[in-house]
Amino acid sequence: MTDLTGRRALVTGAAQGLGEGMAATLADAGARVVVADINDDRGAKVAESLGDGHGFVHLDVTDDASWESAVADAIAQLGGLDILINNAGVEITSLIADLDAAHAKTMLDINVLGTALGIKHAFRAMRPNGASGDGGVVINIASVAATIAFPGISIYSATKSAVDRLTRVAAMESAKLGYGVRVNCVYPGLVPTEMGAGLASSLAEAGLFGSPDEAVGAVIEMTPSGRLGTVEDMADAVVFLASDQAKFINGVGLPVDGGLGM
Ligand SMILES: NC(=O)c1ccc[n+]([C@@H]2O[C@H](COP(=O)([O-])OP(=O)(O)OC[C@H]3O[C@@H](n4cnc5c(N)ncnc54)[C@H](O)[C@@H]3O)[C@@H](O)[C@H]2O)c1
Repeated sequence: MTDLTGRRALVTGAAQGLGEGMAATLADAGARVVVADINDDRGAKVAESLGDGHGFVHLDVTDDASWESAVADAIAQLGGLDILINNAGVEITSLIADLDAAHAKTMLDINVLGTALGIKHAFRAMRPNGASGDGGVVINIASVAATIAFPGISIYSATKSAVDRLTRVAAMESAKLGYGVRVNCVYPGLVPTEMGAGLASSLAEAGLFGSPDEAVGAVIEMTPSGRLGTVEDMADAVVFLASDQAKFINGVGLPVDGGLGM
């Protein structure tokens, strides 16, 4: 089993879904974890469920000042920061012909700006002379949507392609400037979290499939492994990338999608 004993991690959007699973699996591997989310009630409950040594911080990933105080708070709680999982994200389904500019801006703000600000504050904390200056690991949660063309999720796919590119430029800057921070991303396939289930429903509502079950069936049909992803599949990949077993893996996107994006 991968051992993250002594590592200190912050997971965004960890009040539910994939982030909650990633926080729990990082903790199981020995890391101390701060759960960060805009949803204080659920986030605090997840942190409590992890047990002693873990914590919660309020974070709105779209807000630079919120990041500044959340990272400082996490470092105060954990005594440092080695791992940032940029997981918070939103998906609002729409055909391009029905595009709502406000919805598009929400996705750009949370998925792209939120991830970029996370990288910014992780770099500032983890680079030499930062508040936790021993380097570290950043893992961004992109999506299989960055690697395929699926109808109904144009802006979401664009934001996840942006996360993919951000990852590579960030890894390059970190290396060139001697920050000692590896930066990678993962492309999860469809997982039936609140977001995943909501996507299946809204694809049907947009008239692209006869029902949510038909939408899910179409995704499974396109997936060589013949099933949806699980929270555990995504959390295991993140723990691997965060560990020293992945110490020479830098600036890549790892598909965790049963082959859907191949
Ligand atoms: N579920 C899937 O099928 C799937 C597939 C590919 C990629 N992803 C990506 O994985 C990540 C997690 O997805 P999920 O399915 O767990 O979603 P989810 O909707 O279940 O959970 C998202 C979490 O992010 C939090 N959040 C939203 N806006 C925030 C903000 N401004 N600041 C801080 N936290 C905020 C929410 O409160 C929530 O706890 C997202 O980036 C998503 O795009 C999900």
